[in-house]
Amino acid sequence: MTIQEFKFNIKSYDSIDELNKEDAQLLVEARNVTKYAYAPYSRFKVGAFARLLNGQTLSGTNQENASYPAGICAERTLLSAASSLFPGIGIETIAISYNNTRGQSNKPISPCGICRQSLVEFQERTSKAIRLILSGMEGKVLIVENAANLLPLVFSANDIA
Ligand code: THU
Repeated sequence: MTIQEFKFNIKSYDSIDELNKEDAQLLVEARNVTKYAYAPYSRFKVGAFARLLNGQTLSGTNQENASYPAGICAERTLLSAASSLFPGIGIETIAISYNNTRGQSNKPISPCGICRQSLVEFQERTSKAIRLILSGMEGKVLIVENAANLLPLVFSANDIA
C-alpha cells in the first residue's frame, strides 16, 4: 500500500490592489462582464474574462434557462467561445468574479465540478495550464496556477482511449 499525497499552493491577496497590472486588468474585466450574465433565476451573476496565449482576450458569463439544467456557467461559456473563435489556442489566465445580487460578493468563488472537468480537458488538449484568478466584486483574491490542481484524479480523454 502506498499513500498518494496531493498538494498545491493557492496565492491569497487581500485585494485587487496587490495584483500586478495584467492580472488586475483581467479581474476588473471579469467584474465588469458580470453585468452581461443572464441569471434571472439564481440572481447570481458570474463573469469570466480570459487572456489567450495569442494575446486575445474574451469573456463568458452564466446564461440560465427556465428549464434550469439547460443553463451554463460563465467558465464553460468562455471555454466554448475560446474554442470556437480561436481553435487550438491555449488560455493563459482566466479571472472569475460574480455579483450575488441577493447578497454579498466579497469572497472568491471557485469553479463548480463540471467546469473543473471542462477546464482540465481544455488545458490538456491545448497543452497549456490555465491560471485562475478568483474574486468577488471586492475583497480577497486567490490565484491558482494550474486549474488541474482543483481536480485531483481527473477522468480524462486518455482514460477512454
Ligand atoms: N455559476 C457559474 O457560472 N460559475 C461558477 O463557478 C459557479 C456557478 C452559475 C451557475 C448558475 O447560473 C449560478 O451561477 C448559480 O449557481
